Amino acid sequence: MVLIEENKSLFGLNTFGLQANAKYFTEIYSPAHLLDLLSYKITKQENIFPLGGGSNILLTKDVDALVVYNQIKGINLSKEDDDFFYVEAGAGENWHSFVQYCLQNDWFGAENLSLIPGSVGAAPMQNIGAYGIELKEVFDYLETVNIKTGEVLKFTKNECEFGYRTSIFKTSLKGQTIITKVGFKFSKNRLLNTSYGAIEQELQNLKVDSPTPLDVSQAVINIRSSKLPDPKKIGNSGSFFKNPVVSNEVYENILKEYPSAPHYRVSENEVKVPAGWLIETAGWKGKTFDNRYGVHKNQALVLVNYKGATGAEIFDLSEKILQDIKSKFGIELEREVNII
Ligand code: EPU
Repeated sequence: MVLIEENKSLFGLNTFGLQANAKYFTEIYSPAHLLDLLSYKITKQENIFPLGGGSNILLTKDVDALVVYNQIKGINLSKEDDDFFYVEAGAGENWHSFVQYCLQNDWFGAENLSLIPGSVGAAPMQNIGAYGIELKEVFDYLETVNIKTGEVLKFTKNECEFGYRTSIFKTSLKGQTIITKVGFKFSKNRLLNTSYGAIEQELQNLKVDSPTPLDVSQAVINIRSSKLPDPKKIGNSGSFFKNPVVSNEVYENILKEYPSAPHYRVSENEVKVPAGWLIETAGWKGKTFDNRYGVHKNQALVLVNYKGATGAEIFDLSEKILQDIKSKFGIELEREVNII
């Protein structure tokens, strides 16, 4: 049964807590249900807008499309060999619940990605990453349905073209497919990754000497909760910008004025500079506008909607930050959040 609602508010369905309406709205519960939906005439007449956890979008206007809210659920162990657990999950599963379910079943590897908002299907779209791990390290394959043709296609890891917060689904296949299922490969012999500074520190705070994956997950949960606003309380989409990769020359110029500017080396000629540091150094951290929106006080990379802001206001703020960073440091930031 396909039920299509008209003029549906997306207020509770985006973590920024913005008000915008979808022209049409429907939910899907299985790949077969999606194929059924695609046989309806409306899917040929209207644009299709796939929606997952709504945690990486900034709604600046009403959505002139049929919003397809992915509610495909289910997690199961499909296979096991000497080295790996192979786990499949419906794209509509909540990401954090999925990570916790895996840890409870001793399928380890995604613990550093605990508490990232969003859905399982959105995770590979932008190759989510945190605390030294990216999704691609535990990823095996995914299944999609082509919106135009209804064709069901499987993508291997290579075919997904994963990069820093990006994949083929954010680039050349943008808007063309709906991810229905994601397959993961959890190693049985993997070592924990606690190399990200704050994790070691937090494990010490927790008085843990030989950490288990659950301990690492708890450490990550504690760090994220202390630095990043909880979208249930304060509207936000996590990091609003990507960390820019700049040439040695640009970085050396920054060092002249700020000798302790943080960086991560990515190649012989390039370094990644934390955008949060640039934005804080430019004086934006904690700034609030009209008591309704602004830049988060603990992490300058996160823009927040305290109450009743519009997507357009937040977009304007991001534009001002972009221009300011360009003029102060000569660096062009790139938005990580999808602007609608
Ligand atoms: N920093 C500042 N001021 C700030 C924020 C950060 O000076 O307001 C400095 C920190 O002191 C540190 C450096 O910047 O030296 C890095 O900060 P942090 O460890 O908080 O990480 P990040 O680079 O700002 C990235 C990801 C986050 C992820 C963290 C942890 C991106 C765009 N962001 O942030 O991902 O949780 O690392 O791994 O790559 C997200 O994508 O939504 C997200 C939250």
